[in-house]
Parts: sequence; structure tokens; C-alpha cells
Amino acid sequence: MANVIVIGAQWGDEGKGKITDLLSRSADVVVRYQGGVNAGHTIVVKGQTFKLHLIPSGILYPNTDCIIGCGTVIDPQILIAELDQLKELNISTDHLLISETAHVTMPYHRLIDQASEERRGSYKIGTTGRGIGPTYADKSERTGIRVLDLMNPDGLREQLEWTINYKNVILEKLYNLPPLDPQEVIEQYLGYAERLRPHVVDTSLKISDAIQRRRNILFEGAQGTLLDLDHGTYPYVTSSNPVAGGACVGTGVGPTMIDRVIGVSKAYTTRVGEGPFPTELDGELGELLCDRGAEFGTTTGRKRRCGWFDAVIGRYAVRINGMDCMALTKLDVLDELEEIKVCVAYDIDGDRSEHFPTSSRQFARCRPIYKTLPGWKVSTTNCRTLEDLPQAALDYLKFLAELMEVPIAIVSLGASRDQTIIVEDPIHGPKRALLHPDGTPATLLSA
Ligand code: IMP
Repeated sequence: MANVIVIGAQWGDEGKGKITDLLSRSADVVVRYQGGVNAGHTIVVKGQTFKLHLIPSGILYPNTDCIIGCGTVIDPQILIAELDQLKELNISTDHLLISETAHVTMPYHRLIDQASEERRGSYKIGTTGRGIGPTYADKSERTGIRVLDLMNPDGLREQLEWTINYKNVILEKLYNLPPLDPQEVIEQYLGYAERLRPHVVDTSLKISDAIQRRRNILFEGAQGTLLDLDHGTYPYVTSSNPVAGGACVGTGVGPTMIDRVIGVSKAYTTRVGEGPFPTELDGELGELLCDRGAEFGTTTGRKRRCGWFDAVIGRYAVRINGMDCMALTKLDVLDELEEIKVCVAYDIDGDRSEHFPTSSRQFARCRPIYKTLPGWKVSTTNCRTLEDLPQAALDYLKFLAELMEVPIAIVSLGASRDQTIIVEDPIHGPKRALLHPDGTPATLLSA
């Protein structure tokens, strides 16, 4: 029995979908704990490709309960479209449960998100425009609409009339946008409520019950560590807590119930949206990584910025999440390269630092200090064990594991499930290697 959190160790898009899909096979319950329809993963079912933004991919396993936890923000229109897509493919969604206390994204959230980005000009964040920030802002301001409010038609009418009139002042006066018609929005959301009602429960109670019955629970984070509102590259972050700590708050589970934290990282780095990115590659090499890695966003289709692996970020993610082991994805994207660079430390105004800076201004001044390793220049996509890998690829993995002081338990070499090397069982195998009292590191990658 194990309760496991899977988090992104970079700026999101690390390939968590594939890793959670792999781990979902042995999970009884999969819980999404933060974010909203800004996230996205592509899944292929019966030869058809489609995109899920809110529903965990565990929905494909009929015996796995899928939960959208209280720390998420729910856009009912998009959630219902996802339910419809699954229904068309005859995939049951009866085992999807939605938290009563999750907050709801409303039309004014989307409008304000897009309008405020435009108003920010060169200070824009590069959001997905899905209303995520304004939904969480209302949650903090205590003017939010929760799923349980949707379930109460009379209360909802009253609450929305007041809120929409209040938001209309902002839309009209601040952003010169036409006001929303409160009655139209109320009717639309009452319709959504009826559609979602069968799925709505006290999910914290369900999870607690599952824990007591010793079922395996997988807590699935969206986005990544550096997009965390508190621990990421603020202000260029999302408005929730993708870090492992967010899993407890975002589901109503105590920290003592968590057995393990698995981080997911690409073998290089990508970022969407604005903000500093020390190892970014602008030229031909960046294009090559983008092409080979098909680096385009699932939600917005935006081209992702690409760069070398940054072990300072890796070490930071290990620390902030209390990561036990790591899954390294897309190693095959590096297959053609003559040589590969890894950022081992930063140069900040002439001083060397191995620590991730807390200030974004300081982060913008960080220059990467690289170690260059030889490439392997052969395809790794058919490798299934560490022994199948070329020596240079194995050396690359060992180097990363040692730099980050975390065991690499899974290596992914392509999109399909079988293009994976399970180095060690990520759930029952390695824990984070602690230094021996004399300072020597434990073995980090068993070869
Ligand atoms: P928001 O979450 O839409 O408010 O966007 C805030 C920042 O997070 C922007 O830089 C987005 O590009 C980024 N972001 C949000 N969701 C994702 C994701 O799933 N993958 C990668 N970046 C994301």
C-alpha cells in the first residue's frame, strides 16, 4: 500500500501524463489536487487522440476512482465537454468524483484574465487565458463560487446576481468591455450544475475512507514546481501550488498519510509564457529540441521555449518537494546531439551559486555555468533496460542523478507505454539518497 504524489520538477509539461498513466495501473484512486483547465494532457484511445484538461487520465481504468480535489478550479463548460468526449468513446465516467469545495471558473474570470494580460503590456505573465488567476483571486478574496454553491439553485441565483453586477463594474469601467447578462449566466450555470450533480461529493471523506481501507492513492499535480505560486519564479507563475505540499491542502489529506513523492523532469528544459530562463537556447539547437520533442502546448498550442537541463532547478525541486525519486522523460530527444550541456551552477554578477535564487530579478541575472558531456548519437527509442543504453547516455543519467542527489527510477524514451526503462520500482524501490554522516553520497542510479 502506498500513497504517492507525482509532481512536475520544472515549468510544467514534463511528461507527467505518461508517468501517471504508468503508475495509475497500480492505483485504486487518482486525485488531481490543483490547477484548472490551464493544464492539458493528450491521450490516445481506440486510435483517437483527444485532450483532457481536468479529468485525470486514470479515467481510462474502469476500476480506478478519479477525483478532482478541492484545490482545483473547475470550468464546468470544459469539464462537461470532456465528459461528452469520453461518453462518445463509450468510456464510463461514473467513477469521476468532483469536490464540493472546489472553486468554479466563471465567464468573468476568463474575460478579466485576458483583459488584464493585455493591459499589462510588457509586464504580461503569458497566462493561458483560461481565467485561472482570477478564479483563485476570488477564492482568496472570499467572493468565489464553489461547486456546492452551484448545487443550490436559489442560493446561486442570489449569489451570482450580486457577483456579476460587481464584476460588471470591473469589466466596464476598468477594461471597457460589455457587461455580462446575469440572468443568462445564471441559467447557463444552473444547466451545468444538473449535469455535474451526480459526480459531486465530499471528496476529502472519500479519500480518507480509501486511505483507511489501504487502497493505493495517486495524487497528481498539474504544472510544475517553478510555476508554484509560493515557490516558483514569481510573478511568472500560476496561481496554485503544484508542489508536493499542495497535494495535502488540495485534497484534505494530512501529510502523515503520504508515503512517497515522485518528481518528473525532462532530460532538457522547456518553458511556456514569460519570465527568465537561464539555459534557454535561441538558435538552431533550440529549434531542434522543439521539433524533436514536439514542444507545443496542449492547451494553447503555443511553442515552448527550449533549453539545456538545469541541475540547479533540479536540486531545488528535489528539496522543495522532498522528492524520493525522479522519472526522467524524453531522453531520446537528445539522441542526435554531438554534445550535451548541463547547467551545474549559476554565475550571478561574478559569484558562483549552486542555489536557486528566491528573487526573479536575481534569477534574470543568472548566467549558466555548464559542464559539457559527449552525446551518444544513436537512437535510444528501443532501449528497454539500462544495459541497452549507450554508455554516454548512461553517463548522462548518472551525472544528473549525482548532481541532483536523487535516484532516477524511470527513464522515458518515447510517448508509448513500452518506451520506458524502469530502473527501480518507483513506489517501493528507492527513497531519496541521503548523504552518509561523513558526507559521501549513497548510490543514485543502479546500473
Ligand atoms: P495561468 O496558469 O493560465 O494563469 O498561467 C500562468 C503561467 O503558467 C503562464 O506562464 C503559463 O504559460 C503557465 N502554465 C499554466 N499551465 C501550464 C501548463 O500546464 N504547462 C506549462 N505551463 C503552464
